[in-house]
Amino acid sequence: MNRRRFLGAGLASLGAACGLPAPRTALAPQRVALADLRRLVVERADAIAGRCRYVADLGTRQVAQPILLARRGESFDGVIENALPQPTTVHFHGLTLPEAADGAGFDAIAPGERKRVRFEVSNRSGLYWFHPHPHGFTAEQVYAGLTGLLVVTDEDDDALDAALALAPGNRLALAVAEARVVGGAMRPYAPSVEDCLHGWLGNRALVNGMLDARWSVAPGWVRLQILNACNARGLLVAFRDGETLVPFHLLGTDGGLLAAPRELERVFLYTGERVDIAIDPGGRRALAAVSLEFDPRHHARGAAPRHRHPARERYAPLAAETVCERASGGAAEDRLADGAELALFALRVDGAPARAGSSPPPRLSALTQAAAGPEAPTRRIRLDFDEGAGFLIDQTPYRADEIAFSVSRGAREVWEIKNSPISMPHPMHLHGFGFRVLRRQGTYGDARPLATEPGGRLASDLGVKDTVVLWPNETVWLAMDFTLPQEAAFRGAQRFMFHCHNLEHEDGMMMRNFSVV
Ligand code: C2O
Ligand code: CU
Ligand code: CU
Repeated sequence: MNRRRFLGAGLASLGAACGLPAPRTALAPQRVALADLRRLVVERADAIAGRCRYVADLGTRQVAQPILLARRGESFDGVIENALPQPTTVHFHGLTLPEAADGAGFDAIAPGERKRVRFEVSNRSGLYWFHPHPHGFTAEQVYAGLTGLLVVTDEDDDALDAALALAPGNRLALAVAEARVVGGAMRPYAPSVEDCLHGWLGNRALVNGMLDARWSVAPGWVRLQILNACNARGLLVAFRDGETLVPFHLLGTDGGLLAAPRELERVFLYTGERVDIAIDPGGRRALAAVSLEFDPRHHARGAAPRHRHPARERYAPLAAETVCERASGGAAEDRLADGAELALFALRVDGAPARAGSSPPPRLSALTQAAAGPEAPTRRIRLDFDEGAGFLIDQTPYRADEIAFSVSRGAREVWEIKNSPISMPHPMHLHGFGFRVLRRQGTYGDARPLATEPGGRLASDLGVKDTVVLWPNETVWLAMDFTLPQEAAFRGAQRFMFHCHNLEHEDGMMMRNFSVV
């Protein structure tokens, strides 16, 4: 499928709304080519206290909560404008960008200010995303609705759509977030001390901004690119027809397509991670996407982290509530436990099944087996829990002016990351560089039966990753490659971040800077 057709067909159904869970009919088409974007405004959505949105300014028209589309190799050159009452940034999660364009929070945009940003998309096709990253405000702003999708396409992606013979509307890009809905209204961000330790959970899924989201699809293959944009909830994604789990094919992960599809019945999707899935409903009229119940193995108990954020003390919360101060989290029924079953969205199949089920193509991309390279030195990283300070990386709370370590551009390393047994799952995210999972050890609980691949890996470890979950007690070995594309765009030392993508942990100092020199 070429870019024109993709813009006109598949993405036409990628509905998104912000703020109020709008009825489907109220949704304007909002697909936007990244290259056409002149200005991205970050603003409050006035309809509901505490909700915010992105508005894409294309010169001739404005689109709220756009889904951005880019062909690999295309560029963005535009202005990011902060109309929030707090500092913000726009971080392009998963893209390999110079520090000046990464939006990592080293130079947050002050309220009322703007910043020009230029970059080229060098990454493989896949689902990437953008969100705020101002230290201390990230969790609150993302929960407020500031999550955007960026679909990158290339020739592998075109070939896949052609092989699946996707009907128009059968390709969806979905951001699964959640909200605390109480008495029909979305609660603004107001985490207690307890929420700041374990993460802010909601009770209803919000998919592309909608509660009870559903899409109509035609019979045949459906391709779903799904992001977990929740602040803290892990998802165990599956598709149900009544009580039956309907198998699907995993096509890709964070950084693009696998070498070959894998048939699965469930896949873990932690915050910040993405999966690319093909599912054929067969003769079914409907499918329900759910997060299955699982034991998230929260073993850490303790007092809340109390960290000073100098900027937090200068700017009020978006909806005048406290952050990490109240002892109790309010009514227990307002939040659904992590690992509880949660309905995500529904697909309705319209039309008569056209043909007997086929298989997805056996070859999806030229991705090779994960390997570290013979010279790659090992860097050891520990995830710790401290009853006073909460979750930390190598016992060290985040400091904006600190650089934990430097790596040489072009270097290959093995990162050995170990989670403490007294802990919880931490989805660890690296800015700027996709990596490969080499091996896992010490995997217990509900993740264990999914570790079906060589090296104790899960099927979802087989692709390019930028975020990888570590279960309590687990050690993972990652193959890192710090090769930079277009050297000229990366002049001088470049700072990047490595952090937990549980956003309460990120704001709670579970983050380090490193430098590529
Ligand atoms: Cu998705 Cu550093 O973030
Ligand atoms: Cu990122
Ligand atoms: Cu964490």
